[in-house]
Amino acid sequence: MTTMFDTPIGTSAAHARSMVLEERLRREPERFRVLTGDRPTGRLHLGHYFGTLHNRVRLQELGVEGFLIIADYQVLTDRDVADRLAEHVEGLILDYLAVGIDPARTTIFTHSAIPALNQLLLPFLSLVSVAELGRNPTVKDEIAHSRQAAVSGLMFTYPAHQAADILFCKGNLVPVGQDQLPHLELTRTIARRFNDRYATAADPVFPEPDALLSAAPLLLGTDGTKMSKSRGNAVALGATADETARLIRGAKTDADRHITYEPATRPEVASLVLLAALCLNREPDQVAADIGGAGAAALKRTVTEAVNEFLAPIRARRAEYAADRSYIRHVLREGNERANAVAETTLHEVRTAMKSLY
Ligand code: TRP
Repeated sequence: MTTMFDTPIGTSAAHARSMVLEERLRREPERFRVLTGDRPTGRLHLGHYFGTLHNRVRLQELGVEGFLIIADYQVLTDRDVADRLAEHVEGLILDYLAVGIDPARTTIFTHSAIPALNQLLLPFLSLVSVAELGRNPTVKDEIAHSRQAAVSGLMFTYPAHQAADILFCKGNLVPVGQDQLPHLELTRTIARRFNDRYATAADPVFPEPDALLSAAPLLLGTDGTKMSKSRGNAVALGATADETARLIRGAKTDADRHITYEPATRPEVASLVLLAALCLNREPDQVAADIGGAGAAALKRTVTEAVNEFLAPIRARRAEYAADRSYIRHVLREGNERANAVAETTLHEVRTAMKSLY
C-alpha cells in the first residue's frame, strides 16, 4: 500500500537529497542495499508502522535488497529489557513478518550473533575522537533520559557501533527518522576516514551511506505525548481489538466538540484524526469534516474501527506465525548465517586494507 506520506516533502537539504534518492530507487533499485534496525525493547506499534515499517516493506517491494538488524547490543544498558531479551527479539520478528517483511529478500539478524560485525567497532573507534562521541546529540539525549546513575562506555560507543551495523554489509541507504541523522553523519565520517587512511579514492572499501528521510507523519500517543512502547500510550500491532478500543476510548481530546484537523493548535485531536486517515488512506481534513459536530466520541469510534480493520490482516498473520515458533527461530538462524557470511567477507577486506592479515 502507498500513502500520501511516501514521497518525502520538506525543504531541508536532507529532504531534498531524499527526493533525488527516491527517484533513483525507482529507476535502479538493484544499486541499493538498505540497512535498518530496531532495538528489541518490546512490541512495535502504529507509530513504528507508519513511521518506518511500511516504508521498509515498500523498499523491499521495489526490489531493494534489505538488511534488518535487531540491535540487541544496544539495549544492554536497560536492565528491564535485558532480562527479557529473547522474548523481545521473537516479538520483533513476529511483527516484521506480520507486516510483510519477507525473510527471503530481507536478512533479519541480531548483533550478538555476528562476531565479525562487532569486530569492526575497534578500528572504527580509532577513527573518532572522544569529543566527537560525546557531542552526539542523540546520545546526549539518551543519557539525559536514562535513569542511570552513571553512563556506561557502551552508551558512548553506540554511534560507532551503529556505523559497523551499516557498513559491515556496505549498506548505502538507511531509512531513518530525524533523530538518527547524527548517527548517520558519523557513519559517513567513519567510512570516509577509513577509506582515506586505508584505501584509495579509486577503490574505497566502504560507501558513504545516504539517509532516506520519509515524511513520516508524527503520531502522538493517546495521552498526547510522544508515542512510546514504555508509556502505555500506543496501539501495539499485536494488541487485540478490545485492547485497542479501550486504549482509544481513553485517549485525550479537548473541549471543542467540533472535530477539525489542526495539528498546531489541537495536537491530540489532530493526531487521532491523522491515525484514522492513515488507516483509511484518506486525507485528514476529509476525515475531520465527515465527523464535524458529532464530537470526540464519534471521532474515537471512527478511529477504533479504522485501526482495527486496518490491523486485522496483520494481526491474523502475526497469530499464525506466533503458533509456529520453530519457524521464527529458523528465520533468525538463516538471517544470522547470511549476515555472518557478509560480515566475514567485509572483515577480511578490512584486515587486508589495514595490513593486519597475517
Ligand atoms: N538506534 C536505532 C534505534 O534506536 C536502532 C539501530 C541500531 C539502527 N543500529 C542501527 C538503526 C543501524 C539504523 C541503522 O532505533
